[in-house]
Amino acid sequence: MSLAPKLKFYNGCEIPVLGLGTWKSKPGEVGQAVRDAIDIGYRHLDCALAYGNENEVGEAVREKISEGVVKREDLFITSKLFNNYHKLESVEKGIRKTLDNLGLEYLDLYLIHWPVAHEDGNELFPKNSDGSIKLADIDYLETWRGMEIIHGKGLARNIGVSNFNSEQISRLLENCKIRPLINQVECHPYLTQQKLSKFCKDKNIIITAYCPLGSPDRPWAKPEDPKLLDDKNLLKISEKHKKTPAQVVIRYQIDRGHVVIPKTVTKSRLLENFQVFDFKLSPEDISYINSLDVNGRLCTLADRKASPYYPFHIEF
Ligand SMILES: NC(=O)c1ccc[n+]([C@@H]2O[C@H](COP(=O)([O-])OP(=O)(O)OC[C@H]3O[C@@H](n4cnc5c(N)ncnc54)[C@H](OP(=O)(O)O)[C@@H]3O)[C@@H](O)[C@H]2O)c1
Repeated sequence: MSLAPKLKFYNGCEIPVLGLGTWKSKPGEVGQAVRDAIDIGYRHLDCALAYGNENEVGEAVREKISEGVVKREDLFITSKLFNNYHKLESVEKGIRKTLDNLGLEYLDLYLIHWPVAHEDGNELFPKNSDGSIKLADIDYLETWRGMEIIHGKGLARNIGVSNFNSEQISRLLENCKIRPLINQVECHPYLTQQKLSKFCKDKNIIITAYCPLGSPDRPWAKPEDPKLLDDKNLLKISEKHKKTPAQVVIRYQIDRGHVVIPKTVTKSRLLENFQVFDFKLSPEDISYINSLDVNGRLCTLADRKASPYYPFHIEF
């Protein structure tokens, strides 16, 4: 069985360039998807407390370990601290919840899911009486100190961030003891992130690309929204390489030095999305795909713009 190549962090740890996304993967489906993925050769899983399905992901992982198909150390498991655990003393609560859900002793990577904080407590989405989310003015620098502590306790082997803009990354780098290894951000041909990608690369931070297929199952998708995988320009490239549009947009991330985490619960697509290591896009293909950028952000978190730490007020 061939596995995905890995990228090395500055600390020597390695991350497989392709992982399985699990947002929106329903209970009752996600476990089988994880089992199939591991059988196919996936060794990297992208989870989060907020996805509400870590229990079933963990069950499938533990099953594959007990069957002897993989060892824990063969797997790279990521999860994310949600916005309601941003206080220094709450970070450990957040990761312990995830570890309990997964039934694991440590994570390979733990990320601050968003720089934005919600009111501290056990509710993921605490609400005001008008239905809006209760935000809290907790600085992500405080949260990062909590991340450094749980890293020191061995609960997460690596730590990083998600949805941070360049200014937030710079401020974090100026004020941290342990540098973030990853910034997981939305990235696909309609939001190519060329500036943020270069910025992070210069700082030795690897980008993980989320929504790489344009997240067609995002809950707020409208029928009239453009569908990335039907884009005629991408079809031209996929015909040239005799690959599917999904394989092209996955390879587009890998050839840029990014990690990529497409989600599917469909076995044929798990296979399709993994068959991306037998071709390569040319620099011309990459430039062409870069030209499709329309600043088409899908995950805008628009209802949290009032947070002092909202990340998308600036260009990148
Ligand atoms: N850090 C963050 O804030 C953040 C935000 C968003 C996402 N993420 C992570 O990134 C992962 C990926 O993003 P995403 O789930 O939003 O979107 P995505 O991976 O871009 O797209 C997933 C959708 O594409 C379909 N699909 C998968 N493979 C396909 C193929 N080969 N051909 C056609 N359709 C295909 C899936 O359908 P089926 O499942 O029905 O097959 C699903 O509807 C998430 O699952 C999550 O782990 C992180």
